Amino acid sequence: MRVVRTIADLRALLRPLREEGKRIGFVPTMGYLHEGHGALIRQSAARCDATVVSIFVNPTQFGPSEDLANYPRDLERDQNLCLEAEATVLFLPEVAEIYPTGFQTHVEPGRLADPLCGRFRPGHFRGVATVVAKLFNIVQPDLAFFGQKDFQQTVVIRRMARDLNLPVDVVVVPTIREADGLALSSRNAYLDEDARRRALRLSEGLLAARAAFDEGEREAAKLVEIARGPLAGVDSVQYLELVDTQNLEPIQGKVDRASALCVAAYVGSTRLIDNVILAPLPADVGISVVRSTQGA
Ligand code: PAF
Repeated sequence: MRVVRTIADLRALLRPLREEGKRIGFVPTMGYLHEGHGALIRQSAARCDATVVSIFVNPTQFGPSEDLANYPRDLERDQNLCLEAEATVLFLPEVAEIYPTGFQTHVEPGRLADPLCGRFRPGHFRGVATVVAKLFNIVQPDLAFFGQKDFQQTVVIRRMARDLNLPVDVVVVPTIREADGLALSSRNAYLDEDARRRALRLSEGLLAARAAFDEGEREAAKLVEIARGPLAGVDSVQYLELVDTQNLEPIQGKVDRASALCVAAYVGSTRLIDNVILAPLPADVGISVVRSTQGA
């Protein structure tokens, strides 16, 4: 695995591969990697000839009161995980490499950035869309891999790739969970034993709603109520909503199309998000979870 820190070095490394017609996969991350990232890298390694992983804690997607300065970091562990998952290139740019002095051009996502996390993290998806567009332009991957846990992020990025005609397939990989259901997240590192126990309430609610859905429950309000039950033990729930996977609009009445039940909550001072996809038609699972957008 090669480690590169500058855009020039990365481009020089990838140019011959591209000229040979090799398929390049890309996994953008902010580091402190876990098995969820491992799954993305492995998917890329299985489907592509070369896999680039970036680690860049992107300042523009953090609000002023968020955890940018304390965002967990462990480069040595990250490098080992990348190696084991068969990444071929690790890209580690400094902030000045991505945002040089005078930087002033951003990607402004549209309505998809407004609901859910967008309501509580103003400017977050503008920062995500901007850095992902830049990274796509730097790496020029054929396929890029994102985790379903950040569901709204995947919808915003998919839309951006289409709207800006970026020649990349965006692949969304299902969330990896601990045996007890907790969705893997770099922010789980902040949880002590008691907080971790309370954090489990998020997945308990979502998985109970999905079980009810699988047994035939189709009333949106009822499914939300089932997911809300366990959340009583969580400090503050920002949102718990059932939304259309395509336009993120709330589902009213019966669930008759692919929907995402999404939650964001604080456990102590740690903000966690999670979601499950409810797919009334077998084909919806493929549409909503693993989807390719090239050339649209
Ligand atoms: O999901 C993340 O880790 C980040 O939002 C991403 C996509 C790497 C952009 O900074």
